[in-house]
Amino acid sequence: MKTTGGSDRAKRAAGESAADAVEDGAVVGLGTGSTAAHAIRAIGRAADSGLDVRGVPTSFQSRELAKEAGVPLVALDEVNGVDLAIDGADQFSGPHLVKGGGAAHAREKVVDAAADRLLVVADPSKAAGRLDHPIPVEVLPDARTTAADDVRALGGDPALREAERKDGPVVTDNGNLVLDCAFGEIDRPAELAADLSAIPGAVEHGLFVGMADEIHVGTDDGVEVRRF
Ligand code: A5P
Repeated sequence: MKTTGGSDRAKRAAGESAADAVEDGAVVGLGTGSTAAHAIRAIGRAADSGLDVRGVPTSFQSRELAKEAGVPLVALDEVNGVDLAIDGADQFSGPHLVKGGGAAHAREKVVDAAADRLLVVADPSKAAGRLDHPIPVEVLPDARTTAADDVRALGGDPALREAERKDGPVVTDNGNLVLDCAFGEIDRPAELAADLSAIPGAVEHGLFVGMADEIHVGTDDGVEVRRF
């Protein structure tokens, strides 16, 4: 798992706070990353204690963790709806998010968008006045260079994400590559999101515009819940 800023205690507080919102009978989207992992473990403990819950994983990582934690799993195409999703973020500003630090943002966006409510779990290091984190764009391997040109034409600076313990690039759960695209401060996230979505060969990008319903910000001393 990639490492991120913020204490594990703060991440755990955020994850467990959001897991408390899971009601009996719920279908829950299971996000990816070190903070969402705490929510998955908490949901697993609740399932052990008798909570009726089914989880829809957003990545190989969240699926494996949920199995280990004892969360019954179901595929997105096997349910009529998702009651809530719990997911992490690399940066947030109001209800807008940058995601994809773990290259899972394509499936995360599908599941998070399908949910009636998205509860984001984060530590205070993820808060920003204005989004300026590089935006991950998952691209078909054949579109790597043309998509990079299109990102430059939008004013961005794309960098192919390199793997850390493998030679060559990160390959996503979907078999694609990731361009991390720096745009500086993002004044109009909705416009940029639409422009990135229009790039041929771009499978999905990590700008989640207006998607958070709640952000559970954990600290070493407790949790602040922001509602939108
Ligand atoms: C996965 O691709 C990401 O969207 C994660 O949800 C995000 O990077 C947050 O992860 P952490 O909770 O580990 O910081």
